[in-house]
Amino acid sequence: MQIEHTSVLLERCITLLAPSIQKSKSPIVVDATLGLGGHSLALLEKFPQLRIVGLDRDKTAISKANQRLAPFSDRIKVIHAVYDEMPKVLDSLGISDVDGILFDLGVSSMQLDNSERGFSYSQSAPLDMRMDQSQGLSAQEVLESYSRNDLIRVIREYGEERFASRIVDNIIAARESGKLHSTTDLAEIVKQSIPAPARRVGGNPAKRTFQALRIEVNQELAVLERAIPRAMDRLNVGGRLVVMSFQSLEDKIVKRYFSAATESMTPIGLPVEIASLAAKFQLVFRGSEKASEEEINKNSRAQSVRLRAIERVAS
Ligand SMILES: C[S@@+](CC[C@H](N)C(=O)[O-])C[C@H]1O[C@@H](n2cnc3c(N)ncnc32)[C@H](O)[C@@H]1O
Repeated sequence: MQIEHTSVLLERCITLLAPSIQKSKSPIVVDATLGLGGHSLALLEKFPQLRIVGLDRDKTAISKANQRLAPFSDRIKVIHAVYDEMPKVLDSLGISDVDGILFDLGVSSMQLDNSERGFSYSQSAPLDMRMDQSQGLSAQEVLESYSRNDLIRVIREYGEERFASRIVDNIIAARESGKLHSTTDLAEIVKQSIPAPARRVGGNPAKRTFQALRIEVNQELAVLERAIPRAMDRLNVGGRLVVMSFQSLEDKIVKRYFSAATESMTPIGLPVEIASLAAKFQLVFRGSEKASEEEINKNSRAQSVRLRAIERVAS
């Protein structure tokens, strides 16, 4: 079976989860973004006692992961779900708490490379961009049905695109004249909307608009906002949550939850920590980590990764 995805920071994720897995006789890890199962496979090979619950909202990823992980089918449950449904999934399996949780956010190379999915601006395809193609509005439907103001908000906020209003004016002109059907139509509209000097810096000008639409279509930030506290809630003492983000808006959400959870609620100025108000979580390391130059050279997806990890220290 051909595997079209190289897992980012694979060894580092295993090292970070190892103490949580090794402290338990029958450890359980949730892989919240199973993808093609690269991280799960490595964890199952390394820790013979480990059981994994693997989630993905993409049915193609689920079926490919199932094939790849078939030799471990007695130790992994592969479930089609959005990761903010984690509590419901764990409840249905009778699992109250877990030793580790991994989020490897965003799209996989398999999704990007499959041109029909519409994630890539460099290959002509219908404007879909749904990770779960059985649900929700496609990018085409978003572009056809949203008001000018809503489109500007999406592209400005989620794409951090300063030319959002020019892009949207051209999108509206194209949709009214029936000239907006494919990823390459959209990429061309974006290109024409950005002044030439600005086009020469920062890579392909369509990247930010495509990112914005993908976030909107899949409600990525709203789902992540719900998922991180729900995941933290299911960690047992000594359990760790490891998150890899690939764009700053995601990383900001993770950072905010981690900072809040690691702060003591003991009032400033009190000479002693009040045990019941002490923080229940600790950062495994300060700030975020990046991939090495060596890894980035081998796998360009590792370029933008920001890794954070937190451990539950009290119940
Ligand atoms: C970067 S890939 C994971 C790759 C995997 N760690 C590996 O090594 O093969 C991210 C996966 O997360 C899935 N995904 C993204 N957002 C999701 C969500 N909200 N709920 C469930 N799965 C999600 C995507 O469909 C994709 O398959």
